[in-house]
Amino acid sequence: MRAARREPTDTTPIWIMRQAGRYLPEYREVRSKVTFLELCKRPELAAEVTLSAQRVLGVDAAILFADLLPILQPMGFELEYTPHGGPSIGNPLRTVGDVERVREVTDVGQLGYVFEAVRLIRQELPGDIPLLGFAGAPFTLASYAIEGGGSQHYVHTKKLMFKDESAWNALMELFVASLVRYLTAQIEAGCQAVQLFDSWVGCLSPADYRRYVLPHTKRVIDALPADVPVIHFLTGNPALLSAQREAGGSVIGVDWRVDLKEAWETIGHDVAVQGNLDPVALYADRETLRRRAREVLESAEGRPGHIFNLGHGVLPDMDPDNVKALIDMVHEIGSKR
Ligand code: CP3
Repeated sequence: MRAARREPTDTTPIWIMRQAGRYLPEYREVRSKVTFLELCKRPELAAEVTLSAQRVLGVDAAILFADLLPILQPMGFELEYTPHGGPSIGNPLRTVGDVERVREVTDVGQLGYVFEAVRLIRQELPGDIPLLGFAGAPFTLASYAIEGGGSQHYVHTKKLMFKDESAWNALMELFVASLVRYLTAQIEAGCQAVQLFDSWVGCLSPADYRRYVLPHTKRVIDALPADVPVIHFLTGNPALLSAQREAGGSVIGVDWRVDLKEAWETIGHDVAVQGNLDPVALYADRETLRRRAREVLESAEGRPGHIFNLGHGVLPDMDPDNVKALIDMVHEIGSKR
């Protein structure tokens, strides 16, 4: 929390995106008994995987176990997780007319299982470990709602966006209003900070990002309590950094495609940064991993306000020992700076 406010810390804090996931035996054990959606919707199980990941790894923050997409259910989408193909939407939006059937989440009670998990986690989590909530940013959620799943070129999403800007804006507005209620409720239930994942927005040019995305993301961030740090994360396109900063967030999450030093100069040192080791570097031998971790730390130049993380989520076949080794290295090298 101190790093998020750019206050000095004893060492560089670290957490790992997707830290509670399939690479951990503790996660697989719980997951073997239920489907992924059940796991998301059973607060005691979601709490257990959140807490065990934090404990096993020794990271400086816990992230709520949940997913980006279940918010789409009360908005009228049929969501499924296929055993190997990831999420899939049975009734994606394709025409401008389809936008009319999307419902705003006015009653966050429909996502009550998330807030119950937050309360359970907060009861058990050590007091000095913050709990991070999260949600998908409007663009990334819209891209799933429109494409129906993952996508390479986001053709349907961009078509709708370019073809009918007012329908696009109406859709973004539904996400903005729903997300503000959802994230506020996570904070009220006990999250100390929240991360907004705009994982797929890197497919846009800076001009399109500014026109079609920035104002909407900004409205979400501006509506959240000013004293709660928001980590604003996107991947795939360092050319968006300045605009990402303008959209808001007290911490800017950057991926590995840009040097952290350059990224921090671009966004300005009056904001904190999170990142940015290439997740694939975790497959390297210890010596290489150590060098790479040190390079990231050196790019931060010992400035207060750096939260170490991967540039994107940890991969499902990672050896948990490599992740633990990285965490120890960052704490050790970070404390000597
Ligand atoms: O970071 C954490 O540990 C918290 C939990 C978390 C999950 N998903 C758990 C999960 C978080 C923060 C997410 C975010 C998420 N979900 C994103 C943004 C991710 C990013 O890194 O930018 C996206 C795009 C989703 C949607 C989603 N959920 C996808 C694409 C998939 C399939 C992924 C795959 O690799 O197969 C999921 C499923 C999912 N979400 C799993 C987990 C642990 C694996 C599900 C399983 O157990 O089968």
